[in-house]
Amino acid sequence: MLWTLWFGLLAALLSRTVTAQANAIYRDPDTGLVFSSNYVLYRVNQGITYRVAIPANVQTYTSYDAVIQAVIPNDVGWAGIAWAGSMPRNPLTVAWRNSQNQPVLSSRWAGGHITPQAYNNAQYTLFRTGTKSNGTHWQYTALCKGCTSWTTDTGASRFLSPRGGNRMAFAYSPNRPSSPNSPTSTIPIHDVHGYWQHDFSGAANQDFDAIVERLASGV
Ligand code: HEM
Ligand SMILES: *[C@@H]1O[C@H](CO)[C@@H](O)[C@H](O)[C@H]1NC(C)=O
Repeated sequence: MLWTLWFGLLAALLSRTVTAQANAIYRDPDTGLVFSSNYVLYRVNQGITYRVAIPANVQTYTSYDAVIQAVIPNDVGWAGIAWAGSMPRNPLTVAWRNSQNQPVLSSRWAGGHITPQAYNNAQYTLFRTGTKSNGTHWQYTALCKGCTSWTTDTGASRFLSPRGGNRMAFAYSPNRPSSPNSPTSTIPIHDVHGYWQHDFSGAANQDFDAIVERLASGV
């Protein structure tokens, strides 16, 4: 437990020291999208890259689609994103690989610091383009409808800013879920979690809809 705590602190500390490259603009040669990109360490010298692309000219305080791309070292069992920067009561994107080593995306919602349940208000489309792996990493690219806005317990609407920085969080486990072929599998608890500020202003794409349509058609 103490070790876990120390490890978490260390990861948090280290991720602060690499914020020099925070919110790098990444022009993805595979998909043609422009992403705002952040690298978050989950252990010494080992991190996950999270990238976000959104449409240009989105009104603030509206719901909008997002494409998420993650580059994940092969020793990661599952890795999750909390879109509003803490575990409870916001869309959680949890990813792992199935028995064929293909990425599985699981939409979750946690009522507290307890096992998250399936969440139907966010839907994912995994794109073949931008989803790949090699000897060191696996990568997924997916459209999320419902990740940038949600409803609180009291019925209020929450929206991520399409212009500025949004606090996001990640969690990591070295273990895969027990039924890796099922998106609703039980998930083992994380070893490490951390936070970063993701700048959505650098994530805007003029031709977002056309590109997403092409990616969704599998080309
Ligand atoms: C799978 C079952 C899960 C269990 C049982 C669980 C449980 C917990 C517990 C007990 C804490 C508090 C730890 C502490 O304060 O030191 C915590 C914190 C946290 N968890 Fe989870 N968790 C689970 C899954 C997830 C998932 C899928 C995410 C997705 C990103 C996540 C993100 C976080 C984050 C960011 C924190 C830090 C505290 C916060 O900002 O809310 N957890 N979790
Ligand atoms: C392995 O794949 C990842 C994810 O696509 C990529 O970022 C990395 O550059 C690749 N490494 C090599 C050596 O090709």
